[in-house]
Amino acid sequence: MSLFRLDGQVAVITGATSGIGLAYAEGLASAGIKQLILTYRSQPTLDAAANQIKQFNPDVVISSIYVDFLSMEEDEIVELVTTQAYSCSITGAIDILINNAGINERHPVESFPQDKFDNVIKVDLTIPMKLTRCIGTKMLELGTKGKIVNTASVLSFQSGVYTAAYTTAKGGLKNFTQAVANEWSARGVRVNCLAPGYVGTNMTGTMSVENRELMSSFSLEGQVAVVTGATSGIGLGYAEGLASAGIKQLILTYRSHSTLDAAIGEIKKFNADVKIDSIPVDFVEEKEDDIVDKIFTQAYNLSVTGAIDILINNAGITERSRVETFPQDKFDAVIKVDLNIPVKLTQRFGAKMLELGTKGKIVATSSLLSFQGGYASSPYAVAKGGIKQFTQAVANEWSARGIRVNCIAPGYVRTKLTDNMSQESKDLVDKRIPMGRWADRSDFRGPIVFLCSDASSYVTGSTLVVDGGWLGR
Ligand SMILES: NC(=O)c1ccc[n+]([C@@H]2O[C@H](COP(=O)([O-])OP(=O)(O)OC[C@H]3O[C@@H](n4cnc5c(N)ncnc54)[C@H](OP(=O)(O)O)[C@@H]3O)[C@@H](O)[C@H]2O)c1
Repeated sequence: MSLFRLDGQVAVITGATSGIGLAYAEGLASAGIKQLILTYRSQPTLDAAANQIKQFNPDVVISSIYVDFLSMEEDEIVELVTTQAYSCSITGAIDILINNAGINERHPVESFPQDKFDNVIKVDLTIPMKLTRCIGTKMLELGTKGKIVNTASVLSFQSGVYTAAYTTAKGGLKNFTQAVANEWSARGVRVNCLAPGYVGTNMTGTMSVENRELMSSFSLEGQVAVVTGATSGIGLGYAEGLASAGIKQLILTYRSHSTLDAAIGEIKKFNADVKIDSIPVDFVEEKEDDIVDKIFTQAYNLSVTGAIDILINNAGITERSRVETFPQDKFDAVIKVDLNIPVKLTQRFGAKMLELGTKGKIVATSSLLSFQGGYASSPYAVAKGGIKQFTQAVANEWSARGIRVNCIAPGYVRTKLTDNMSQESKDLVDKRIPMGRWADRSDFRGPIVFLCSDASSYVTGSTLVVDGGWLGR
């Protein structure tokens, strides 16, 4: 669980006195953060927020900066927040900046009062951009491994009705985040957005902040997971993550005893108590429906609780050839392993989860080629595009019935799958990754625990891109 700890770190959060920002502060406090520096407008709301945050961690130091994003000048705000944040930081550094303060105004675009439109752009776009630039520059100067998170919105992707200013600001903020990530990731500062859906807060009218210990929401104690293709690479990283989050039992598919034994040795380093069972299966050699039947039947027989809580469709293959000469058997094999089997496993396991009332979590490994066409990898792009869309389709049908379905889209990862890329292609990839390095399996431990645990309780139908910034470039 140390993956999720923030001990010793200092964070600045704008707009943390209520709603989503307060929930961020509670989360950081519960992860052991040393100091929170919050902007505020009214002392009573700040005091109430501080009380609430202290319930998650009485030792967190809470400092505050008075600032009104509407009545004060933009540059004055940015200067004040930056200067005061660094002067009150206990460590002299700011490790985390969360640009969260935001407003909304609803008017038809043709009659949108200009001052209100300008206010939304100022608070939701310009100030976050300027704070990112100022505090980010300081992080680079000091060599801080900084994390900057901007609160975007579903309206970064879609346009709402009568929300022209808001959707413009949130769309811009999302793209700004990608642009900055391209420049800073290799220099140690990571920049991301969180795009909330509809959340009951002051902005939407009601207020609902759950009061519970956040770190325990990452725990997977008592749960049983099936992971395909966990004998190496990304899947092994997933299994290590699940083990370290205290999972009770892992049921792994495998082809060779020696790779399985080696993988078990690695997983046990993260949790010696985890029970590991296995199902021998070859996704290429055996028949599609037999494979699905075998994994489904054996998994439920092996489960120590009688339930499967987590299904991870990860086993995958790739073949490279130009589309006009792609050998049909190889094309079909990629579609079978990377699309048909994960789809059918999702259907079988999901149906049983619904029947048993299991609050299931299903995660598929998709790819950058869920979004891009790639080159000489046409069946892989078809399969990975399809699995991403399938995930969304299933989430539409099952989310209200307690099952969350998501994808992880890895960028370039050093595994057996990418071993056979030409050196020329590898060099090209190297240059293009904003973070300046390929991923390794350790980069997948945190993301899988997040998606399989209650920490992601409102995340479904989504694809978590873990790509060192590639897609934003
Ligand atoms: N590496 C990347 O850059 C990258 C990027 C995006 C997405 N992905 C996806 O990530 C997933 C895992 O790939 P990886 O990169 O971690 O590759 P990997 O190290 O080759 O792991 C692939 C896993 O799938 C299993 N597998 C392969 N062929 C199989 C078969 N015929 N029957 C049963 N199991 C089989 C392997 O088992 P064995 O040990 O028996 O071979 C292994 O456990 C795949 O879905 C892949 O498409 C990878």
